[in-house]
Amino acid sequence: MNDDLASKIEKYVHDHTDPVSPLLRELIKVTEEKTGLARWSIGRSEGKLLQFLIKISGIKYAVEVGTFTGYSALMIAEALPDDGMLTTCETNKEFARLALKYFKKSPHGRKIRLELRSAVETLHKMPDESVDFIFIDADKPSYGRYYDESIRILRSGGFMMVDNVFWRYKIFKKKITNENAKAIAAFNEKVKSDDKVEKIMLAIRDGIYLIRKK
Ligand SMILES: C[S@@+](CC[C@H](N)C(=O)[O-])C[C@H]1O[C@@H](n2cnc3c(N)ncnc32)[C@H](O)[C@@H]1O
Repeated sequence: MNDDLASKIEKYVHDHTDPVSPLLRELIKVTEEKTGLARWSIGRSEGKLLQFLIKISGIKYAVEVGTFTGYSALMIAEALPDDGMLTTCETNKEFARLALKYFKKSPHGRKIRLELRSAVETLHKMPDESVDFIFIDADKPSYGRYYDESIRILRSGGFMMVDNVFWRYKIFKKKITNENAKAIAAFNEKVKSDDKVEKIMLAIRDGIYLIRKK
């Protein structure tokens, strides 16, 4: 597919998907002003997919690996029921500060707990089969470790959504040289050969893996 057609499809998908809340629109604007990295956030179509899946599956306990400035965390919290809970993991203090500011501004922020330390440490402390849903969107070389911990803490029937499984389309190169792309390609093979899960890969934005623990 040429770049022109790909961007037309992305714009069309965006235009035919519900808008996000005014607070999330403000957060994206402020994220760009303060970090210049708003493209790291999952954006409208992926965020709305996340909310749709959370609502139809009725999940209560969610975990996020990679908070950044809180866009996807707030998306998840908005979709959770009133007694739902999200634990979100971040290592960068500046990003976490902005995220916490916006969690306070949202009526759904009280459902979110931010853990400011390496995500592996946070996941490692969680009990077996205690979580309904996990969203993975952080450092790519650790995806394999996040996956192993996630499989342990997910209840049977729980699922995860993993972002960037195309790693900027670099995984499609004949010879993969980029370190993140190598890690993602290895992660995708690990999931593909795991019989403990059902999985479907979606060609949305930078690739999404949906993985359900049997
Ligand atoms: C792509 S951004 C997440 C974007 C966010 N999910 C959103 O949609 O707004 C990845 C984040 O993971 C964080 N991160 C990197 N390594 C981490 C680690 N070991 N533990 C927790 N977070 C980490 C980075 O600081 C960065 O903020």
